[in-house]
Amino acid sequence: MEKRIITALDVPGAKEAYEAVKSIGAGVDYYKVGLELFIADGPAVLKMLKEEGKKIFLDLKLHDIPRTVERAVSSCLKYDVDMLTIHSTGASAMIQGAAKAIKEANSNTTILAVTVLTSLDQSDMTDIGVTRVVSDQVEALGKLAVANGAGGLVCSPKEVKVLRSVLGPAPVLVTPGVRPAGGDVGDQKRVATPGQAILDGSSYLVVGRPIMEAVDKYAAAMAINEEVNAALASL
Ligand code: C5P
Repeated sequence: MEKRIITALDVPGAKEAYEAVKSIGAGVDYYKVGLELFIADGPAVLKMLKEEGKKIFLDLKLHDIPRTVERAVSSCLKYDVDMLTIHSTGASAMIQGAAKAIKEANSNTTILAVTVLTSLDQSDMTDIGVTRVVSDQVEALGKLAVANGAGGLVCSPKEVKVLRSVLGPAPVLVTPGVRPAGGDVGDQKRVATPGQAILDGSSYLVVGRPIMEAVDKYAAAMAINEEVNAALASL
């Protein structure tokens, strides 16, 4: 069975992370570690995930001058992370700096760029001086990131179809905001089912609460794995 879920370990510390990974077991091979957990217990959690044979998506959304990002990416590589995130608004030299760190270390780690945070709307864009409509900005930044060495993008399930058609099959497209049909959407506003996200061209699905808050986490993950595999089979 193909596994395309990345479970968001949105927990406060290493103990909770370990318990979640143990109870999900073979249901999930890939985990997202974001700022909350990384700042609390980062190195210990990353070590634990590797010891458990899991892949790591380190979601730190780096955004700084090119040299600083290049060096931060180099530091991330010592944890053997599989994917890590940067902001594409750092522009071409910063994206190239991140890609250079990967190349010089001869690493297989994929740099994923964030385009426009899905928490931003058009009026937020105006506030920060961006005059493009959000969808055009997403597309422009997506192209910029990939052209400068990012291996893929984090994007909403509502953007993935257009980005896949514009960027072609190579970039890794990772989509949060995924909810099984009938599931509780929580604070997510624009959601897609796992099957739809895959049909639209998503490579991996970030799924947090539908698994983390399930009574049987393994069963919740396996139900999504089955839906994903049915969608893959129909492509
Ligand atoms: O619990 P849920 O499935 O909504 O978790 C989704 C994860 O993906 C969270 O860690 C959230 O911060 C992250 N994320 C998101 N939407 C984005 C980018 C990241 O939900 N646009």
